[in-house]
Amino acid sequence: MRDQAEKLRLLAQTIKQQVEDDLKKHVLIPPVKKNKGNIFSKDSNTRVIAVTSGKGGVGKTNFTVNMGLALAARGQRVMIMDADLGLANADVLLGVTPQFNLYHVLKGEKSIKEIITYGPQGLMLIAGGSGIQEMANLPRKEIENFVTGLGDLEGMTDILIIDTGAGLNRNVLTFLLASDEVVVICTPEPTAITDAYGLVKSLYQRQPESNVHLVVNRVENAEEADITATKLIMVAERFLQFPIGRLGYILDDPSVTKAVKSQEPFLLKYPKSLAANCVHRLAGQLLEPREEQQPPSGVKSFFAKISKLFSL
Ligand SMILES: Nc1ncnc2c1ncn2[C@@H]1O[C@H](COP(=O)(O)OP(=O)(O)OP(=O)(O)O)[C@@H](O)[C@H]1O
Ligand SMILES: [Mg+2]
Repeated sequence: MRDQAEKLRLLAQTIKQQVEDDLKKHVLIPPVKKNKGNIFSKDSNTRVIAVTSGKGGVGKTNFTVNMGLALAARGQRVMIMDADLGLANADVLLGVTPQFNLYHVLKGEKSIKEIITYGPQGLMLIAGGSGIQEMANLPRKEIENFVTGLGDLEGMTDILIIDTGAGLNRNVLTFLLASDEVVVICTPEPTAITDAYGLVKSLYQRQPESNVHLVVNRVENAEEADITATKLIMVAERFLQFPIGRLGYILDDPSVTKAVKSQEPFLLKYPKSLAANCVHRLAGQLLEPREEQQPPSGVKSFFAKISKLFSL
């Protein structure tokens, strides 16, 4: 048992060292410009986007909720799934009080459709139940209740944004692998960059064809965002040959914390704030057509991949 623990500790140390070495060896090179292509048609499949980070507390839930509202303001039907099963809190940031959540779905008491809470601007929320243990450790029946319910969401939304917990446990990895796209949130702090690279590396090792975009949050200015993004993107390109898209940045803005305290999304509470401006710009970027982008595979495919990953 002690041997096993020691082996795991050594493995974790080696991975951390590899990540740090890769980052140290990196040299700044200007970003590559990408071409534009056709946008998806309005009746195409639901686009499933998972939001994640290496380090915790970097702004995933704020990004998810406010991005959801910004996309809704652009005419998209948006649904948020709070998949941070340990510490679900998207409902708190959105200022809604869901009557039911994923816990009721897992227990077979409600279907996913029945637990949808409607927030501002028609935003739909699938609330996560706090304190739910790792999906992988749940009884098979409970995982089945969740996975089969996902199929009901087909046709209900244009975009499904999944807010995950930080780091890479099996729950998070499953959602990342099953989604069409992954948005990695990072801040300019060296620890956040190292952890983001570690996450990207693990994702690449499991699924090299993953479609990843980077958002740098809490930056002082555009230059800081550029330096941070370039560092991470170039290291991933150089050491993994893994292309990461540069979605953009969100400025560090006290309006975010003030809005969180009043339990209202900053996009609604402070619509003219710097952070709100940045998120509107990012929403435009996310809807911008990209030539290399595959059309979304939809909720059905998401559902099929999740089933497979949980070996149902
Ligand atoms: N752009 C920003 N400007 C200023 N403060 C910010 C910004 N983004 C996030 N914050 C601060 O960081 C806190 C954490 O944000 P959030 O809850 O969205 O992070 P998270 O990544 O979802 O955390 P967790 O890993 O715990 O799920 C917010 O409550 C807010 O105080
Ligand atoms: Mg969160």
